[in-house]
Amino acid sequence: MPSSFFVSCPDTVQAPADGEQVREDFRLAMRRMAAAVAIVTCRKGDEWLGITATSMTSLSMDPPSLLICVNRSASIRAALEPDAAFTANLLERRHKPVSDAFGGRAMGKERFSFGHWGTCERGVPMLRDAIAAIQCKVDREVEYGTHTIVIGRVLNTCLSDEMNPLVYVNGNYQ
Ligand SMILES: Cc1cc2nc3c(=O)[nH]c(=O)nc-3n(C[C@H](O)[C@H](O)[C@H](O)COP(=O)(O)O)c2cc1C
Repeated sequence: MPSSFFVSCPDTVQAPADGEQVREDFRLAMRRMAAAVAIVTCRKGDEWLGITATSMTSLSMDPPSLLICVNRSASIRAALEPDAAFTANLLERRHKPVSDAFGGRAMGKERFSFGHWGTCERGVPMLRDAIAAIQCKVDREVEYGTHTIVIGRVLNTCLSDEMNPLVYVNGNYQ
């Protein structure tokens, strides 16, 4: 066995940690989970809205669907009402500045000055050089703690030839 190899988890399950410890350990565990980065966009009247999200995952192929966990305090939350159209734009490695902007570095419509944006059906903003732009409508929402699980029914997908996703792990882009 190489000397650098070690096991830090105990063989047996210990007594449950207190709530704060559980939260902190879970937060550190989740930092180790690599995730692709998407910009979730929608439209409220004439206003374009978008946030950076890593919580997206496919849900089912039958029907084609995905889910995204959206903080209830996020600006986009109120616009993601039942049947609302939204798009999940998967980022390529060069899109790090776009992710930073939509992750909070820029606010409001200024976010859309990062990246090349057009519109897809129902006028929802679409990143024109996204690895994939998945167009959905809100099919269901589940409130849980601080977040809303938004289930999107996939209506259409645009694919580019690029296959180098922007990946976020341990608080950094890889
Ligand atoms: C890499 C990264 C991933 C994120 N993933 C999520 C996510 O999955 N869900 C979420 O609600 N916020 C996520 N955020 C935070 C939002 O993008 C950020 O809070 C956003 O600024 C909130 O939008 P608002 O300022 O328009 O309210 C993420 C931020 C970053 C930088």
